[in-house]
Amino acid sequence: MNVLVIGSGGREHAVIKSIKKNPAVETIWCLPGNGGIAADAVCVDIGAKDIDGIVKFASENPVDYAIVTPDDPLVLGCVDALSAIGIPCFGPDKKAAIIEGSKAFSKDLMKKYSIPTAAYEIFDDMDKAIAYLQDKEMPIVIKADGLALGKGVIIAETLAEAEDAVRSMMADKVFGASGDHVVIEEFLTGPEVSVLAFTDGKVVVPMVSSMDHKRAHDNDEGLNTGGMGTVAPNPYYTAEIADECMKTIFIPTMKAMNAEGRTFKGCLYFGLMLTPKGPKVIEYNCRFGDPETQVVLPLLESDLLTVMQAVTEERLSEIEVKFATDKSACCVIMASAGYPQSYEKGFEITIPADLSDSVYVAGAAIKDGKLVNSGGRVLGVTSVADTLPEAIAASYNKVGKIHFDNAYCRKDIGQRALKALNK
Ligand code: AMP
Ligand code: GLY
Repeated sequence: MNVLVIGSGGREHAVIKSIKKNPAVETIWCLPGNGGIAADAVCVDIGAKDIDGIVKFASENPVDYAIVTPDDPLVLGCVDALSAIGIPCFGPDKKAAIIEGSKAFSKDLMKKYSIPTAAYEIFDDMDKAIAYLQDKEMPIVIKADGLALGKGVIIAETLAEAEDAVRSMMADKVFGASGDHVVIEEFLTGPEVSVLAFTDGKVVVPMVSSMDHKRAHDNDEGLNTGGMGTVAPNPYYTAEIADECMKTIFIPTMKAMNAEGRTFKGCLYFGLMLTPKGPKVIEYNCRFGDPETQVVLPLLESDLLTVMQAVTEERLSEIEVKFATDKSACCVIMASAGYPQSYEKGFEITIPADLSDSVYVAGAAIKDGKLVNSGGRVLGVTSVADTLPEAIAASYNKVGKIHFDNAYCRKDIGQRALKALNK
């Protein structure tokens, strides 16, 4: 069986390492992949947003199955285009991917189907948005409507900051057309939990929960990033809360998408906040999270490709999806110093051979036969252990053995989770 994977991040590297375990898998192509993924798949230089190029490649090669994991190609309809030439795919079609592609859509969906989320209003007129802010309690949250690489969310502490945020999105278009509509919503508090779930539109099967660390620096300071590290399971996410989320959020979301004629098939990501008034949805993503995938898949005991195919064929209820419930995982991201702003590229990366199974490469290229950093987030280092403290210690121990100039990582990945465990 030959598999095509679209994307180029640490998440795609984790998916590829996981499906490689299936003995039926022969060739894996990754479009475009990266210098590190090249050790595990045939990388072809076709961009993840180049839907025509992807379809052309898939029609010229013996592709049996395709896995589309990044948000952009999903929202652009990559699954629709590949399905149209007869290739079975893992991932939602364009109609369903809108759950991430438009925050206005997802907020309205939650309101219509009574799925708990922050109270909000949507604006397409800047003056009305600014007028609305005048008597609101601060902080308040301003979100650009479309995909904005996780950066389109501003938490304003004062009215002046809120007005600036609205102006920068709606007048200065700092997030491009994503700022044509803005969502202004209530500021919620509580621990955040990421839950990825397989769903085929008939059943929803949550994976082990995880915790992301989105800020660039220790103690959750600095700018928001794509994610600087993750741990799984998330200790705040108790069995009781999981039951409640299943009843009030996961199943209602699946049913709501069905009722809208937008059946979601793939991995649905629930970004949750456990507020004093119960769990609420902060955001949906139409795909595996990055770097959540780098801790969730190493805990998956079932065969990933088998699960994905069951999703595609709408027979997820017939198979068992098993996670190691007695283990913990930790992923520490090694980034280029300066990320998420400017940083230098081209430094050689050295990874001891015995660590290659633990490393998911996100931003690296091959130059003159050497692996060099080419992105902000360069690689993720994952460990699985019997306890969370052991998993954290093991990952930092490995980080100490991997080298590139100007490497930067947070030193406190998992500390928030440990505090919750020790309470
Ligand atoms: P999003 O891209 O919607 O996940 O937002 C990015 C981050 O902003 C989230 O992970 C939260 O930490 C924060 N955030 C988003 N919406 C809210 C909210 N309504 N209240 C508090 N924090 C929020
Ligand atoms: N780690 C958050 C995301 O994938 O959007």
